Amino acid sequence: MRVIALDGPAGSGKSTVAGMIAEQLDILHADSGAIYRTLTLAFMRRLGPGSSAQEFGSIFQSGSVDPDSLPVQVLLKDRRQSNCLDGADVGLEIRTPEVTSRIRYIADNVPCRNTVNRLLREFSEQTDLVADGRDMGTVVFPDSASKFFLEASVQIRAKRRYEEMLGHGRANLSLEEIERDIARRDEEDRNREVGALRKADDAILIDTSDLSREDVVSRILAQIQYRF
Ligand code: C5P
Repeated sequence: MRVIALDGPAGSGKSTVAGMIAEQLDILHADSGAIYRTLTLAFMRRLGPGSSAQEFGSIFQSGSVDPDSLPVQVLLKDRRQSNCLDGADVGLEIRTPEVTSRIRYIADNVPCRNTVNRLLREFSEQTDLVADGRDMGTVVFPDSASKFFLEASVQIRAKRRYEEMLGHGRANLSLEEIERDIARRDEEDRNREVGALRKADDAILIDTSDLSREDVVSRILAQIQYRF
């Protein structure tokens, strides 16, 4: 099946853009970050309430991690990805700061990465899709003919996140805190030993700094009409 690979750093807008493209083309939006988040939540639940990020990290240092033993299921329903734990969709529970602050242990763990990659590839055997993440074009779908890499400065990405939070009426972090958080995640994502954030050589780079989401979507659609 055909795959559009969309990568970029935190806050580059790739998830929103991927959702809009999926809608327009009537294909699946495969959100790889959401699967990393669901695995993180699964390990948090296994450790029990109140466990610290440090305790969380220590289970990965001991080396005994089997992501396939977790009660995680990622389902396709009407071309939508449903991330489930113990049979129930996790919804927004995977978007909390507690999950975000622990996710790096999962993202650095090779067995976890393999599980996510396997699930994404299984989806691509069933349906056309647009997959967003950090390593879609380099590792998961290196043969895709439609690869894009979205970029914008840390300041612009932080400002967008902040405004988005204000829009949802929950700006519990200051602009400076968001900027620091994004810069830290960039550093972690770019320097990961496996699956690091990197533009594939054959990916088209789009600097989204001065573009609206609609502009980014139309650029991508204009490119893929010849390839997809
Ligand atoms: O895309 P999102 O910000 O939800 O992803 C959460 C985290 O999962 C990222 O900060 C990154 O560390 C990790 N991730 C990854 N590889 C991907 C997608 C996400 O390592 N393909």
